[in-house]
Amino acid sequence: MTAKTLDGKTVAEAVKAVVAAAVPQLGRTPGLATVLVGDDSASHTYVRGKRRDAESVGIRSIHHELPATTSQDEVIALVDMLNADDEIDGILVQLPLPDGLHSESVVERIDPAKDVDGLHPVNLGRLLLGRPGLRPCTPNGVIRILEHYRIPIAGARVVVVGRSFLVGRPLALMLSEKGVDATVSIAHSRSGELAPLTTTADILVAAAGVPTLITAAHVRPGATVVDVGVNRTESGLVGDVDFDEVAEVAGAITPVPGGVGPMTRAMLLSNTIDAARARTGRL
Ligand code: GUN
Repeated sequence: MTAKTLDGKTVAEAVKAVVAAAVPQLGRTPGLATVLVGDDSASHTYVRGKRRDAESVGIRSIHHELPATTSQDEVIALVDMLNADDEIDGILVQLPLPDGLHSESVVERIDPAKDVDGLHPVNLGRLLLGRPGLRPCTPNGVIRILEHYRIPIAGARVVVVGRSFLVGRPLALMLSEKGVDATVSIAHSRSGELAPLTTTADILVAAAGVPTLITAAHVRPGATVVDVGVNRTESGLVGDVDFDEVAEVAGAITPVPGGVGPMTRAMLLSNTIDAARARTGRL
């Protein structure tokens, strides 16, 4: 292997240390509410991790677990209650919601000032407009890990494979913002042959949700490869990148697990502090 491994665990610890130092400055204990509906086991694991992270930096974790049979109105009523609770600075509704529930309406119901996932249309709209707001955690985490390892972003050619509203699209917007200044292309499942485009990338981000989609043939020698994929397969958790093969070609690469995942979790805490700071002025 020739590529440098970009260690998300180490960088996430650095972000968490900054958050932990910011908590006492708030003058009150910030609160992060998590809402988990149904019994998807991966979602339970994720939320457990997020709650543990929150407590570890001094953020109070308030957890609501609802059965899969919960109605849309009941979920909305819970969100309304959390919106009205001044002790809660951030609200995270774990997605996906069970069949029959309408995720978009639930996310839209969250007070944008408490939308620590950065997925409310108001916050995504602010991102599009280049205005300050809460940014989605995974794209935020991708940029933070690149910055930590001093991988040049300004002027870089970035190819993002994947156009989800959770990762691909907001990441492309964030990387092309004024002051960040990457030149960004988005590829997706209908793009056809990927290699002619991906081999032009200085930074290649794989966020398509397809195991081993990205092979050595997709990567320009020396490029940085960021693997956002979280695919549960029979052989365990794998990313979108064939790590062993790509690590022989790339200059730097994030592993799965231990790359972007810990960064996403750390940026949730960072967003919670940002939300708490902004709200403290108004309470
Ligand atoms: N499910 C998978 N990723 C996420 C995320 O970033 N936020 C929420 N709320 N649910 C998710």
